[in-house]
Amino acid sequence: MDFEIINSDIAAIKTECLVVGIEADGQLTSAAQAVDKASGGEIQALVADGDHTGKANHCTMLRNVANIAAKRVLVVGLGEAKKRTDNVQKALIKAVFAQLKSNSITDVAIALDDNANQDADIYRQIRINVQTACGSLYQYDETKSTKATPSTLTNVSFVVAEDQTENAEAGLVDGTAVANGMSVARELGNLPGNICTPTFLAKEALELEQGYENVSCEILDEAAMEKLGMHCLLSVGNGSAEESQLIVIKYNGGEADEQPHVLVGKGVTFDTGGISLKPGASMDEMKFDMCGAASVMGTMHSIAEMELPMNVIGVIAAAENMPSDKATKPGDVVTTMSGKTVEILNTDAEGRLVLCDALTYVERFNPKTVVDIATLTGAVIVALGNQVSAVMANNDELAQELVIAGDYAADRTWRMPIWDEYQELLDSNFADIANIGGPAAGSITAACFLARFTEKYAWAHLDIAGIAWQKGKEKGATGRAVPILCQYLMNTAADQLADDQ
Ligand code: BES
Ligand code: MN
Ligand code: ZN
Repeated sequence: MDFEIINSDIAAIKTECLVVGIEADGQLTSAAQAVDKASGGEIQALVADGDHTGKANHCTMLRNVANIAAKRVLVVGLGEAKKRTDNVQKALIKAVFAQLKSNSITDVAIALDDNANQDADIYRQIRINVQTACGSLYQYDETKSTKATPSTLTNVSFVVAEDQTENAEAGLVDGTAVANGMSVARELGNLPGNICTPTFLAKEALELEQGYENVSCEILDEAAMEKLGMHCLLSVGNGSAEESQLIVIKYNGGEADEQPHVLVGKGVTFDTGGISLKPGASMDEMKFDMCGAASVMGTMHSIAEMELPMNVIGVIAAAENMPSDKATKPGDVVTTMSGKTVEILNTDAEGRLVLCDALTYVERFNPKTVVDIATLTGAVIVALGNQVSAVMANNDELAQELVIAGDYAADRTWRMPIWDEYQELLDSNFADIANIGGPAAGSITAACFLARFTEKYAWAHLDIAGIAWQKGKEKGATGRAVPILCQYLMNTAADQLADDQ
């Protein structure tokens, strides 16, 4: 599907469907006014007759509007101007695309100007539009015998004022790259655990390498990890027939000697809990326990497409957590790559076990920053719900940058503390550290565990357990945290360029 920015005269746009907005209380936006004027009052009549009040997301499809080149005019309610947050904008675009889908529209011109959001930044609005549109059009069918009917939509134009063209076009290009990365993350997340295994993730990384000249990749199998002493990561896959993998994807967009920014993703391709077996209800959703890894893979796709002028290394710690006679047991003690020993009191707290060795491994890259992304704790859903992720960091600046990036990318995160008073919750009588900290502050103690392995660099941890997938009727991966990660890297690349000048 093609996206395009245009600035044509509204009445003259030849399209299957022209989309214009009405404000709350029936006020017409400038595009709606243009239609109204050309047609001799059709939109005003709609409002006067009570067919449309401008209520948010309310859609009315008109056909054969007089003196309008478009075949149809879709009038959509924008709601109150001061209530138009990012989430309201997303809901609006979803409503519009649902309508376009049900009418089998092939070509659309969306003339909402910059009215879709109270933040007038057109670059940002177009990005959210494109990302949301791609999300609406995404359909999972890989494991269905009846394939989804492909969307009929082939062309989506956004109509903007002439002086906004440049910014809108930039938003479109970046939005497309981010959306493509989100689709990668969605698809990987949605694939079942019997297909999306650690070795499958490794193959996906090799495909990414094929696609871009400046992407290279290295796969460490169990033997290679054994040699490095990554016994903690390996302990998670002990009970599984699937081989654990450490996947390293290097994107070289900067100078050869420039320090890289590193992303580390939790890639538990299925989390049964291991010997500390999870209850049966909703256990299928633990196929999404590799959504941190999927976010890393998606982000690497996006930044390669955007050709960001920086070096980024994506690392995926992939394993399947299964019970068996070979599985790690509660009370087992393992030695991490760092040399620290861990008492595994609960085999279901496995994310931190795969991540800690990956976090030690990345020291060799002399990273500028390291961000890990993980569906790490159910506790983060208790704390923050399914709306936002949590960020915890050993570096205030990095934490702040992620919060800012999340705000801008409409993929928000909120900081939680990992102060030293929490560390004693991880004390063990039998090892240097225990892998769980008791019932209180579960997300914080998980991050405190990781903090023990990240002392050598600026590090942040994103707990995405609440946001990586949706439950219920629309069950499926969301493609988050690709937007925040892309934004963080885009901002960092821009800052680096500014510093160099
Ligand atoms: N993958 C889970 C976290 C999770 C649970 C994500 C539910 C999304 C929904 C993780 O491996 C896990 O099992 N964590 C345990 C930790 C506990 C044993 C300390 C949890 O959150 O219950
Ligand atoms: Mn678990
Ligand atoms: Zn898990």
